[in-house]
Amino acid sequence: MEVLIYESPEAAALQAADIVQHTLHEVDAPVLGLATGSSPLLTYRELIRRYRLGELSFAGATAFLLDEYVGLSDGHPEAYRTFIERELVDHIDLSVTSVHAPPVADDALRNGLEQYDEAIRLAGGIDVQLLGIGSDGHIGFNEPGSSLRSRTRMKTLTGATRSDNARFFGGDVTAVPHHVVTQGIGTILEARRLVLIATGTAKAQPVAAAVEGPLSAMVPASALQLHPNATVVLDDRAAAELRQAEYYREVQSRKPAWQQP
Ligand code: F6R
Repeated sequence: MEVLIYESPEAAALQAADIVQHTLHEVDAPVLGLATGSSPLLTYRELIRRYRLGELSFAGATAFLLDEYVGLSDGHPEAYRTFIERELVDHIDLSVTSVHAPPVADDALRNGLEQYDEAIRLAGGIDVQLLGIGSDGHIGFNEPGSSLRSRTRMKTLTGATRSDNARFFGGDVTAVPHHVVTQGIGTILEARRLVLIATGTAKAQPVAAAVEGPLSAMVPASALQLHPNATVVLDDRAAAELRQAEYYREVQSRKPAWQQP
């Protein structure tokens, strides 16, 4: 696992944007895995900025969201499909019809959600998957205890995650849905590259548990340890509890120019 540490969330976002840009340049019909929530926001702003400058294009790309809430009305401002359109897709040359979100309608929940993993597979698999990390160590909405081989399915959010996300719902935890559909950990691990972005003190403990703790279903993000091409992009505050931080900084400062960003 590669751990990159930057002095600010803005600098971390430049690095995450470099990785996405590299994929857009290198891959013919790139398939992006998109996270929502606050962690990738600065990265999305940077990608929009570069798109406006003509430095990159999303034409020909396809995107798959990591997760979606169950029970929000179509177009609800906090539905992840609405979120990704507002924060990214509406500002770049990626067609909305090329952006896929996990199905959350009743019949899809009842009939199984394998179709989402199948759609990812038919698109050629995800080239680069952006991730955040929950304060309880989740990736996607794979809460602690999720099988490390899980596939896209419905999950029940923990109280901690609903409280964390209440800030998006005007501070009203009762407005946060209990259920979500999320890519499974096994689904996420099939992406060719994983990029986890974490900034701020609240992420220091889950990041340390994921990067340096034992591989455990109780810390779903520790599954990144199983992936051959995973990069964790942090600011100093999110890196504060890493025992090996000095070593990661040493590796980062000596990264050969020919290596991918
Ligand atoms: C969002 C997602 C979640 C978030 C995580 C961190 O699509 O899958 O895992 O990345 O809850 O949320 P923020 O970034 O808001 O701290």
